[in-house]
Formats: sequence, structure tokens, C-alpha cells
Amino acid sequence: MSPVILAIESSCDETSASVIRHGKVLNNVVASQSIHHKYGGVVPELASRAHQRNIVEVVNDAMVSSGISKDELDAIAFTRGPGLMGALLVGVSFAKGMALALNKPLIEVNHMEAHILAHFIDEPRPAFPFLCLTVSGGHTQIVLVKDHLHMEVLGETQDDAVGEAFDKGAKILGLPYPGGPLIDRYAQLGNAEAYSFSETNMPGLNFSFSGIKTSLLYFLRDEKLKDAEFVDKNLHDICASFQKALIRMLLQKLTKASRETGIRQIAIAGGVAANSGLRKELGGLAQKHHWHVFIPDFQYCTDNAAMIAMAAHYKYLKGQFTDMGVAPLANMSIS
Ligand code: KG4
Ligand code: ZN
Repeated sequence: MSPVILAIESSCDETSASVIRHGKVLNNVVASQSIHHKYGGVVPELASRAHQRNIVEVVNDAMVSSGISKDELDAIAFTRGPGLMGALLVGVSFAKGMALALNKPLIEVNHMEAHILAHFIDEPRPAFPFLCLTVSGGHTQIVLVKDHLHMEVLGETQDDAVGEAFDKGAKILGLPYPGGPLIDRYAQLGNAEAYSFSETNMPGLNFSFSGIKTSLLYFLRDEKLKDAEFVDKNLHDICASFQKALIRMLLQKLTKASRETGIRQIAIAGGVAANSGLRKELGGLAQKHHWHVFIPDFQYCTDNAAMIAMAAHYKYLKGQFTDMGVAPLANMSIS
């Protein structure tokens, strides 16, 4: 049977709800929390409170615009983890309350698996097995995707995520949070060969992004001693060079993973998959290595409930439901 599911996402700083019917996503309502901008990063307690304020309206919008009544739902899905504990708690509790009130089954979804399954929202869809480079504010992983529900992490960051490197780099440059999209924008206007930063090469398919951030910090400290306006005068070139180094680190490992596994179906997912430089470089590699590359629509790169709904659809088909005693799992890993 092809289900109708309401899905809720609340792992970080977007409150989102989506309705999926017969495997087709009907909508994707997202309320982004702007409260964090003035603090230069996501403040967990403020995120939970904003989720509490937003969730009723967001879920209601998704239900109303889907044209589906609550009685028609076959299940309620939610992000169980990974994410911020207080933020997850809001979505999990809301989903449980709704499931209880409507007497519907619950489906828990892993946020990182859902980022990958965003590739199944629209055509073209990757064929199994494929490799997915999942790049977000909290994670950087290369995942072997065997089917919708079987995935294996081949490598991941041992410290900062690449999105964090973008955001921390932007903060060092005095740019507001979240800095990733701004670095992307300025990088398009700059010379990526202007400066170089020390890139860490970890063993195997793992990553490390804390060193390059420190390299940027020390580079700017030295340059500012010579010219206090160095950043203002060279912002575009600094962004372009820093972004290029981050992308090179990502794509080196992705190339290695493809070579080692022999898999040439390559996908990217997560917030940093919105980066125009990464998308462009990936296009170049696709030609060089004869890869078939899959890049999600922008709205499905950053956090959204449509991807949670897609993941829940496949779990429903396999009868994978969750009992009412479920609690959030802040450090949930890919099974
Ligand atoms: O997947 P996501 O929305 O949330 C997490 O699960 O973390 O990813 C957010 C991250 C942030 O670090 C943000 O700066 C980064 O994605 N990001 C970008 C771009 N758009 C979002 N980084 C680089 N270039 C972009 N265009
Ligand atoms: Zn995410």
C-alpha cells in the first residue's frame, strides 16, 4: 500500500513539515530561524524555543496546503537524530502527541540518511549502489548507499564539518552567520589562486577541517599586521581561495572513494551541496572520470522535511515503525 505521511524536521534551526502521498512530496514548509544571526551561530536553547513557537503553524500550513485531512494520514514521521537535543525534542514530542491523538503509527528518521534520500524526491534518481558526499553544518561523510535503507559510512570528518569550516572561516572574516552562502557569493567574484592555506590530508577516506580554519586565522593575523585593511581590500580573493581549498579536500576523497569502490554514480547532499563552486568542480570531475553526478534541488540541500518524508515513505513500505517510548538521539549514526 502506498502511504500518506506527515513528516516533521526540527534537528537544528529550521522548523519544517511536509506531506508525502504515494511517494510524491506534496509540499515542503520551512520556517528558518533568524534569531541566531546576531549570535554568530545556532544557540541551542533559542533554537528549541523557536521550534516550539513555529511548529503548530508550520505543521498546519503543510496539512492545509496538501489538501489532505488528518484522518487520511497513514503515519507521522519525525527526525530522531542526529541534531540538537532540545530542538529534536520539540519535533519528537509533537509527532508523538499527534500520533497518539490521531491513533496513527510513528516513523523515526535519521537526518543524515534523509539528506541522502532527498535524491529520490525528483527525477533523475541515482541507481544503487551509489556514493554520496554528505556535507552539512554538522557532518561531512562519504556514504556507500546500497539501497534506500542500507547505507555505510566509508569516511567522515574527525573534527569540524565542512559547513562549520565555511561558517567559522566567515566569522574570522567578520561575516555574519551562516557564512557559507556568503563565502560562496564573494568567491564567485574573486581569484581562487590568490592565496593558499594548509590542507590536511587524513588517512583513508576521513577528513579534518580544523587545521585549515586555523591556517586562515594565522594568515589573516599576519597580513593585518602589515595592512589593517587587508580583509576589506581582498575579501573576494580570500573567499575564493579558502573555498577552493575546502572543495579540493572534499573532492580528493570523493575521487579516492570512487576509485576504490569502482562506483561512478556520485551524489552530493546537505547544506554545502548548495555551494556553486562545489557544483561546478563536480561537473568537471564528472567529465574527467565519466561519473554520473546527482545534485539535489537547492531547497532539498539545506534542512527540510521533504527529505524526512521521503525517508519515511521507504520505511513505511518496509513496515519499520517506532513505538511511543521513542526519545531523540542527538548523536544518532547511520545504521
Ligand atoms: O544541511 P544544513 O542545512 O544543516 C545541517 O544539518 O547542518 O547545512 C547547513 C550548512 C551551514 O554550515 C551553511 O553555511 C552551509 O550549510 N551552506 C553553504 C551554502 N549554503 C549553505 N556552504 C557553502 N556554500 C553555500 N552556498
Ligand atoms: Zn542537515
